[in-house]
Amino acid sequence: MCSRKNIQMFRGEVSRGDRESLNAHRAAVFWFTGLSGSGKSTIAHGVEKRLFDRSMRAYVFDGDNVRHGLCGDLSFSPAARTENIRRIAEVCRLFIENGTVCMCAFISPLEKYRQMAREIVGEADFYEVFVSCSLEVCEERDEKGYYKLAREGKIKNYTGISAPYEIPENPDLIVETDKESLEESVARVEEFILAKVTS
Ligand SMILES: Nc1ncnc2c1ncn2[C@@H]1O[C@H](COP(=O)(O)OP(=O)(O)OP(=O)(O)O)[C@@H](O)[C@H]1O
Ligand SMILES: [Mg+2]
Repeated sequence: MCSRKNIQMFRGEVSRGDRESLNAHRAAVFWFTGLSGSGKSTIAHGVEKRLFDRSMRAYVFDGDNVRHGLCGDLSFSPAARTENIRRIAEVCRLFIENGTVCMCAFISPLEKYRQMAREIVGEADFYEVFVSCSLEVCEERDEKGYYKLAREGKIKNYTGISAPYEIPENPDLIVETDKESLEESVARVEEFILAKVTS
């Protein structure tokens, strides 16, 4: 977490707790990690819709979307990937103060990225969701056509092909999208989130 000397935080009259009471649920961050094509975006947006239909405040931060705006200036170098995650985690902290259930759909391939996000958000509000899917199945899906390009060497540093993916050691939830249907995965994540923010 970055704090600045000589800049004092202004405390408003409406607290996080006030907002959580109004929403009738707590705020938290659910950080989805997994290979490209594993299903992070599809599941997160599916759950978002279901939470919205329950009148809950939920929002998905999606890797591709933020790279158009907030992180549009960043490359895929190790330093830029770190900065990408740092910015998202800091935005999540603000959204948590706003009482929102945040779902973050980023490959976040290395343990150090996920650890940094956890530290910025704070242990108590952070849950890691491992969207597990074999590289073989992700490659078959090849949603974006990038695996093919990576195999041909036309995209460098592609996670799973020419850049590492570190399997999370201790995730809070695992969904296996090469073994269960989309509906099952969405239902399991929804149930997990409801247990953390409403019970
Ligand atoms: N159980 C499942 N859960 C999620 N997605 C599934 C499941 N079974 C099949 N799919 C399919 O897998 C694909 C997952 O693509 P998606 O864009 O969500 O991946 P992603 O992890 O967000 O990838 P990227 O990191 O490139 O953004 C979709 O076409 C989805 O319909
Ligand atoms: Mg995605």
